[in-house]
Amino acid sequence: MVIIKKPSQRSLYFQYVFLIALTIISSVISFAFFLSLFDITLFKSNRQIFFEKEYINPTKDRTLFYDFNYENKTKENGAIVVLVRNEELTSLMSSMRQFEDRFNKKFQYPYVFLNDKEFTEEFIESTRAMTTAETKYGLIPVEMWSYPSWINQTEALHARKKMEEDKVIYGGSESYRHMCRFNSGFFFRHPLIEQYDYYWRLEPGVEFMCDIDYDVFKFIKKNNITYGFTIALMEVKETIPTLWDTVKEFEKEYPEYINKNNAMKFISNTGKNYNMCHFWSNFEIGDLNFWRSEKYIKFFDYLDKAGGFFYERWGDAPVHTIALALFLEKTQIHFFNDISYRHSPFEHCPIEKDVHEEGKCHCNPEKTFDFTWGSCLPSWFSL
Ligand SMILES: *[C@@H]1O[C@H](CO)[C@@H](O)[C@H](O)[C@H]1NC(C)=O
Ligand SMILES: *[C@@H]1O[C@H](CO)[C@@H](O)[C@H](O)[C@H]1NC(C)=O
Ligand SMILES: *[C@@H]1O[C@H](CO)[C@@H](O)[C@H](O)[C@H]1NC(C)=O
Repeated sequence: MVIIKKPSQRSLYFQYVFLIALTIISSVISFAFFLSLFDITLFKSNRQIFFEKEYINPTKDRTLFYDFNYENKTKENGAIVVLVRNEELTSLMSSMRQFEDRFNKKFQYPYVFLNDKEFTEEFIESTRAMTTAETKYGLIPVEMWSYPSWINQTEALHARKKMEEDKVIYGGSESYRHMCRFNSGFFFRHPLIEQYDYYWRLEPGVEFMCDIDYDVFKFIKKNNITYGFTIALMEVKETIPTLWDTVKEFEKEYPEYINKNNAMKFISNTGKNYNMCHFWSNFEIGDLNFWRSEKYIKFFDYLDKAGGFFYERWGDAPVHTIALALFLEKTQIHFFNDISYRHSPFEHCPIEKDVHEEGKCHCNPEKTFDFTWGSCLPSWFSL
């Protein structure tokens, strides 16, 4: 005998609900698709909302342009800051060539080159030949590039050996650590930098792939911007095991320095843990007076005392980023979308069609790091 099982009332009911839900979902999807054919967006991404509501677009402000101000060209008190070794001359010249052609030929900001050793004649002559702007060459004072008295150098050596064995990037390098400490706490106090208010950090071997037709220093001054970046990504965890705990202790000790509307959400979703996000500091445009402020100096000294620049491998990128997130509001930090920048292996290229159609860029928007895994830009948009 064949038994035909009658479906229960209950399962019939579920089938109906399922069918109705399916119909609703598919009509919404086809409606959205239909609208998209006419360039009408139903659901806006955080990125779109960011660009519509928050983003200050420097390319829309004619008063910042080179040609507009040509008659009465006044420069801001800014400089291009380059920490570089003599051996890096060739790759520095390639950076400078692009930097000049895309930006500085027009604006003529002075360069300040810094080194922990004397620059060679060849270095000075070759870099002078790359620009018509002023160039200055400075030696880094020993106290800005050495061990503070409280660091046990035997332990620092052990730490480097251990990290090298663990294959942590630059884990075994002593000079890399001095560099990170210098960029974290001293470059803005160097005798050749002291006189300036704004800086643009430039490195050897980088590329600038779009025209920059406006004065970036005028832009940040006019809009009350303290810091600008192009790429944000995640730090290698192994380089900063105790950094976050040290920051938490600092916060406890100096609550008066913490900004009430700060941008901490960018680096810590709940406030408990560091999510490793940081601005990639080989590119920086900023206000030097922020780094010279009492709160930042206190912050740096606190970290320096903790020893992590040597016993671990704290980078200037997370150190800068955490300070910015503690002390500033989001509006004081600017994402330079229009500046296409490459520092191997990552690059930022604007994805907007118009700049490419106008022939202002030579980068491939598909290669932009913005949406790649490891990029923190999406969290910046959603902040
Ligand atoms: C130059 O300065 C003069 C006097 O301040 C002003 O009248 C003129 O509009 C300025 N020109 C430009 C292009 O900004
Ligand atoms: C430095 O560290 C080493 C190894 O831990 C230790 O033996 C030495 O006593 C320390 N030196 C000082 C001055 O504390
Ligand atoms: C810049 O912004 C900060 C924070 O919003 C504010 O405290 C400061 O007064 C502003 N400065 C100027 C010159 O607008």
